[in-house]
Order: sequence, then C-alpha cells, then structure tokens
Amino acid sequence: MRVNQLSLYEAGEVGEKDDWTFQGAETRSLTHCYHDYPARMIPQIAGKLLDLFAPKHPALLFDPYCGTGTSLVEGMIRGLSVVGTDLNPLARLIARAKTTLPSIEVLDAYVKELWAYLLLPDSEEPLDMTLDGISRPEFWFKPEVFRQLARLRKFVTCIENTEARNFFAIAFSETARESSNTRRDEFKLYRYAESDLERHKPAPFQIMFAKLARNRNGLMALQEMMEGATPSVAIHDFNTVSGVPTRLLPPGSVDIVVTSPPYGDSQTTVAYGQYSRLSSAWLGLPDGGSVDSALMGGKKTKTLPVFSCANLDDALASIAQVDRDRALHVATFYKDLKASITHIAPLVKSGGYVAYVVGNRKVKGVLLPTDEAVRSLFEAVGYVYETTFLRGIPNKRMPSRNSPTNAPGKTEQTMLCEYIVVMRHV
Ligand SMILES: C[S@@+](CC[C@H](N)C(=O)[O-])C[C@H]1O[C@@H](n2cnc3c(N)ncnc32)[C@H](O)[C@@H]1O
Repeated sequence: MRVNQLSLYEAGEVGEKDDWTFQGAETRSLTHCYHDYPARMIPQIAGKLLDLFAPKHPALLFDPYCGTGTSLVEGMIRGLSVVGTDLNPLARLIARAKTTLPSIEVLDAYVKELWAYLLLPDSEEPLDMTLDGISRPEFWFKPEVFRQLARLRKFVTCIENTEARNFFAIAFSETARESSNTRRDEFKLYRYAESDLERHKPAPFQIMFAKLARNRNGLMALQEMMEGATPSVAIHDFNTVSGVPTRLLPPGSVDIVVTSPPYGDSQTTVAYGQYSRLSSAWLGLPDGGSVDSALMGGKKTKTLPVFSCANLDDALASIAQVDRDRALHVATFYKDLKASITHIAPLVKSGGYVAYVVGNRKVKGVLLPTDEAVRSLFEAVGYVYETTFLRGIPNKRMPSRNSPTNAPGKTEQTMLCEYIVVMRHV
C-alpha cells in the first residue's frame, strides 16, 4: 500500500522527525558550497537517509546519478566508501573536487601565485582566445570579460597539482558562468535583455577570488570533520542504462544506494548539459555540447513500452491519445529508468537499501507517477517496498512550472513535492 504522508502532514500528524523539508537548513556547508547545479539534492536528505538506512559497519554507498556529489560527501563524513557515476563531465569534476581534501597550504600558495600573475600587465601576453564548441563567444561574453577569463583559464590549466587544479577549476567554472551574459536566475542559457546587459558589469578576477575564499572555508570545515581520515572515493562516467562494469562494482558489493535521478528527459525538464556548456567549453571538458541527448530519455523510443505499473501505463496511454510523439519521448525516460534499475539492482547486497528521490511531473496535464514506477520496477527485480517519504520543496532551483500543453505563455504547476522511495533487497 502506498504511504500517503501528504494527508498526514495535512492532518498535522507528521512530527519534526518525519519532516524532510528542512526549511531554512544550511544547505551549503562543507564543500557543498563549491558550485551551483540544477536540481541538487540537499545534503540533509542524503544525510538523513544514510543515518536511517546505511549499516553502521564499514560500507559502500553508490550514487548512479551523483551530479555534484552531494550524497557522496555525506557518505564520506559518515565513514562510508563512496562510488558515483554521472554522464555530465562538469558534474563529475565538481563531485571530484568536493570529495578530495587538498592541502590548504598548497592552495594558499597557488592563490598567492594567482595574485602575482594577475598583477603583471597582460597586454603582451599570448592568450588562447578560443572557446571550443561555442559558436558565438562574443554573444555570451563581453570582450574585456573574455580576456580576463582567458587569463584565469591560462593560470588554472597550468596548475600541476591535480587536486589543486580541480579546486581552482571549479571556482573558475562558476566565475565564467557568473561573468557571462547568461541570466543568473536561469539554469538554461538565456542572455540578459539588452537593457540589463548595459548594467551587467562583472569583474571576473574579483568573482574568482571570492569563490576561492568561500570554497576554502568549506574545505577547511570538511577537513575538520574528517579528522585526518582518508576517504575512499571513486567517480566514474559509466551509464547504468547500458550496464555497470563489474570490475568497478561487482554484484553484491554495494550496501546502500542514495540517489536523485533526473525528473525526465533533459529537453523538457532540467537541461544539465545546457547549464554546463559555457563552463565545459572554458575548461575543455569533453562532450560539453552533446550531454543532454546522452542523458536519460535523450533518445526517443519508436514504440510505446508497457511497464506493468498500471498508473504509469495509464498515464502514458492518456498522453498518447493527445500527442503520441510526446508520449514516446516521455516513455523513453521510463524505459531508460527501467534498464538502469535492472542493472543497479544486483549490485546491492541482500538486506541493503536503495533510496530514490524523485519528482512526479505533469505532461499534457497528465501526472506521471515516477514514485510508483520506481517502486514497481524495483519490485520486479527482487526488492520489497519499505516506505515513501514525502517532501515539500521549499526552495529547490528547478522548474516548478512548465508549459505542459507547449502553448507559449501557458504554464502549469508541475512539482511541489518530492518522493523519497525506499526499497530493500531481499
Ligand atoms: C537530479 S541530478 C543529480 C543531482 C545530485 N544529486 C546533486 O546533488 O548534485 C541528476 C543527474 O543525473 C545525471 N544523469 C542523467 N542521465 C544519466 C545517466 N544515464 N547516467 C548517469 N548520470 C545521468 C545528470 O547529468 C545529472 O547530473
């Protein structure tokens, strides 16, 4: 039976200990402050799930959609070994930076070097002024801003120490984005209106130093918390939709999965690739422009599959009645989710838990029951249902309104809460 916590909330029967909203909580402590990212999981959710369901002995956490590594950091500070995978190279870089503990002295020395370098006159300096994969760099960056970013990039890419380079690269990535002509309140690439552009006068060097200082504080707090322990962290780029390399994660090796998959395909929900494009281009990361079509639901299926989850099958049939093409797009996401779950399921030890944080969006006015889909897809591969926690979304930056009819200007509320579905491997 499906737990309906929403009605319990409404009836005032859900106490603080069951509250997953974490309204007002500090979500950018430790290295969680490093970099913004669309639809980030808040650390409190991953932390609480691990406290409730991770074994107390040394254990392995796997996050198959690790994004910027929120759950991995939370696993690390609880003494777990952590493994994550994500197809977005920028997300992997952020996750790597967030889960490594470079020496503060080494970082400080590089910060001093950066000051000294930027004090040199730049007029004679040969700079790489290209931005691979971006067809009109001048559309996204003012000329002076571009030159300053080119200087910062030159410094960052020349850092020899890998951990320090990643630390600086992440600060540079946010600096490039914030200095660009992209609207700050959007994850997609929308340029400021001409009138706003005139007022937009970013100072990349200042932004960079501010990010470095903020991130240094976060790192110091994490180092204090780790008390000298060396975390075991691996971040990969495999796609669980196609399979899991058993040399990296053998069957039965994982104690717990805590993850938040995308809410749907990148075209119509959160465009992770588009969000990352400018940073990826500056950092020379691979595939910056083609990430979105590689993600879940990126390649359209030709026939409408049956998922043996009555509410999902009904929802897809209803969408198909009004727009078959759209139904096929939506179905592709669930087809990929199913394949991914089939590959993840055997990795978890008997008695181990998986926790999926998902959203139920609406397409063409039809509610898609992703929480139920996750439950039934795991039930089909030997798991039993444990519970579903319901969470109101106070301030997650993600589209809560879209245009389900695709009519310009017409919006409809899509997701106001998330479902945290917990399953146990028998
Ligand atoms: C909701 S975000 C995860 C956010 C993450 N929990 C965090 O706090 O940063 C979903 C992630 O799934 C990734 N993704 C989408 N399809 C994927 C796939 N097939 N394999 C691996 N990662 C994928 C996206 O790149 C994105 O980073």
